[in-house]
Amino acid sequence: MYKIKKKQILNKDVELMIVEAPMVAKNAKPGNFLIVRVDDKGERIPLTIVETNGVDVTIIYQKLGYSTTLLSKKEVGDSLCDVVGPLGQPTHIRDDAKRILGIAGGVGAAPLFPQLKEYARLGKTVDLVIGGRTKEHLILVDKYKEFCENIYYATDDGSYGTKGFVTQVAESLYQKNKYDLSIAIGPLIMMKNCVLLNKKYKIKTDVSLNPIMIDGTGMCGNCRVTINGETKFACVDGPDFPAEGIDFEELMARQNYYKKEEKHICKLKLEK
Ligand code: NAD
Ligand code: FES
Repeated sequence: MYKIKKKQILNKDVELMIVEAPMVAKNAKPGNFLIVRVDDKGERIPLTIVETNGVDVTIIYQKLGYSTTLLSKKEVGDSLCDVVGPLGQPTHIRDDAKRILGIAGGVGAAPLFPQLKEYARLGKTVDLVIGGRTKEHLILVDKYKEFCENIYYATDDGSYGTKGFVTQVAESLYQKNKYDLSIAIGPLIMMKNCVLLNKKYKIKTDVSLNPIMIDGTGMCGNCRVTINGETKFACVDGPDFPAEGIDFEELMARQNYYKKEEKHICKLKLEK
């Protein structure tokens, strides 16, 4: 069970796996995620269900901490201990949106993929701005080409497309095209800046949040996020949300705290 059927290195930080998980695959909808445990003592890793074929699920992970590094050591033919899902709410499709701009920052291209693909399947016009630190950090481009009308690129170092952030490219598009909706997924600071930009152009924004999760079922409260003054849990109320009322400052403060802790714990575990 949960056999790894394919593994692909997307760049030095990010990998893709196709894993046999028929019960998850059969029931997954765009926007759902799953939780993986590599072994029976493993931490629970929440990951977007990028694609399914009814039997297998595609996941994409960034080798950031101890558990994703452990996951990355698994090869085709190995099995994962648990794959639990589908979890979370499916993406809320906005029927009135006719033309949509997807904005993907780095590994955020993975959670954006199933949402944009669904809008395209429903006959909407879908454009994409995809950004990364370098050309090699632009992931899934060939798969996006299958349904996007136009794709625009940005890299921090200028190695491909516009030199700069995705927000710069999006703003130039807003000056010539009309979009009804923007779906922005990537680092928190990027999503926050996309919301500010979109407000200026009166465009609605949806985002996907990935705060630290433990149980993934609304029990632990770890993935809480404040939206319009109310507490929501990303695992059961999201992870996709309309972005306008999200308290990004609070999320960034909490993420920075965990980043410091994770680095320390990962170093200790890897030294063992
Ligand atoms: P990164 O830091 O390399 O940034 C990717 C791109 O985002 C940049 O190339 C740039 O175009 C844009 N960006 C960065 N800073 C910006 C700013 N200040 N203003 C406007 N645009 C900006 O991203 P990465 O390392 O690939 O992604 C890692 C982050 O993405 C992690 O923090 C992770 O938590 C988050 N992430 C989010 C989700 C999600 O569902 N929301 C999923 C996976 C990862
Ligand atoms: Fe525990 Fe969401 S992960 S409440």
